[in-house]
Formats: sequence, structure tokens, C-alpha cells
Amino acid sequence: MKFFLDTANLDQIREANDLGVLDGVTTNPSLMAKEGIRGEENIRNHYVEICRIVGGDVSAEVISTDFEGMVREGEVLADLDPHIVVKVPCIADGIKAIRHFTTKGIRTNCTLVFSPGQALLAAKAGATYVSPFVGRLDDISSDGIALVAQIVKMYSYYGYSTEVLAASIRTTQHIIQCLEVGADVATCPLSAIKGLLRHPLTDSGLATFLADYHKLNG
Ligand code: E4P
Repeated sequence: MKFFLDTANLDQIREANDLGVLDGVTTNPSLMAKEGIRGEENIRNHYVEICRIVGGDVSAEVISTDFEGMVREGEVLADLDPHIVVKVPCIADGIKAIRHFTTKGIRTNCTLVFSPGQALLAAKAGATYVSPFVGRLDDISSDGIALVAQIVKMYSYYGYSTEVLAASIRTTQHIIQCLEVGADVATCPLSAIKGLLRHPLTDSGLATFLADYHKLNG
């Protein structure tokens, strides 16, 4: 399973990249706003900066909600760097735009997906990635991981090549659950990735090994 980092924060992206396990980055307008990135030029420069750090796919989201606007924006974004994946919301014009981008060879991430039906349309339009939002479904007492599992199964039955990118991941446990149901990618906060490393028996075992070594070796 690939790991994407779900942030626009350059320090966090550098830190995850230095760990050597980072496959890409996803951003959205809220994450860009959190970093205080404003103005079209600054936003574009920020995407380029992210692409310079990461050697993998970087999702950049369109703001337009109409077909023509999405196409215009998406083509500019895709021209910034070969690693850019144009992120498009799962609405009617978005599906049309994904089909358009697919025919032009521009890769896409169909975002804000909350149902198997939406995932089906994304795949039929040729999306490179589909992003079911795990945490936001859990927030409304639905089952986000069950949706990821459903989409993985349905795509494999019919041989759709769209990759299932589990988004809105909040915890380390979510990452493990994504692995268990066969998600292609999980886009996670850095804290959830770091959480994978933590185990009290690793810490106590290491402390014992070092203490035993030092008893004999000073
Ligand atoms: C990434 O592609 C999504 O935009 C992101 O994972 C949403 O996460 P959130 O539900 O924590 O805002």
C-alpha cells in the first residue's frame, strides 16, 4: 500500500520524505488555507515546491465547480509538474471533467467520495484515483472503512484500473484497516504514520538490549 501525506505543510512533507516511505502528497483548499497560502501564483508555486520535495504524485485540487472552469484550471495545474494529479470533486461536471482529462492523458483524483455509486462513476470516467473519505463517514456514525472495502471489491470484480486512495484518515488504526481491506493508497496525517512505529515492547526491549550491552562494555 502506498503512503501519501495529507498536508500542504512543507516541513511535514520533508520529515515524511526523509523517513523514506513517502509515495506522494494530497492537498485540498482547506489544507492550503491552513498554511496561509493565498493567491493563484503563490498556490501554484507551493505545488511546485511540494513536487520538488516528493518524488511521487501530488494532488492539486480545482476550485471551479463548472466543467469549463475545471478544465481550464486543471490544465494549468497539470502543466506545473509531471507529478501533479488534478483533484476534482465528485459532482456531475467533475465526472465530465475527469473524462475530458482522461482523454488528454491528464491524471485525476476524484475527491469527496462517500458512496459506491460515486466511486463507480469516477472509475467509469477513468479517474486515476478515487478518494473515499473514511474519517468524515465515521464522524456521522457511518463506516468509512466498509466503504473502502466495498470499492476495492467492486473495482476488482470489474477490473477497473482506478486506484482506491483512502482519504480523511485520522488514526494509525485507520491505516491498518486500509491495509486489511486492500486499499491501494492511504493518505494520512504525519502523526498517524509516526504512530505505526510506536510500540511499548519495542521501547522496553531496546532499553534492555542497550543496558545489557553497557553492563559489559561500559
Ligand atoms: C485528501 O485527499 C482529503 O481532502 C483529506 O484527506 C480530507 O481529510 P479531512 O476529512 O480530515 O479533512
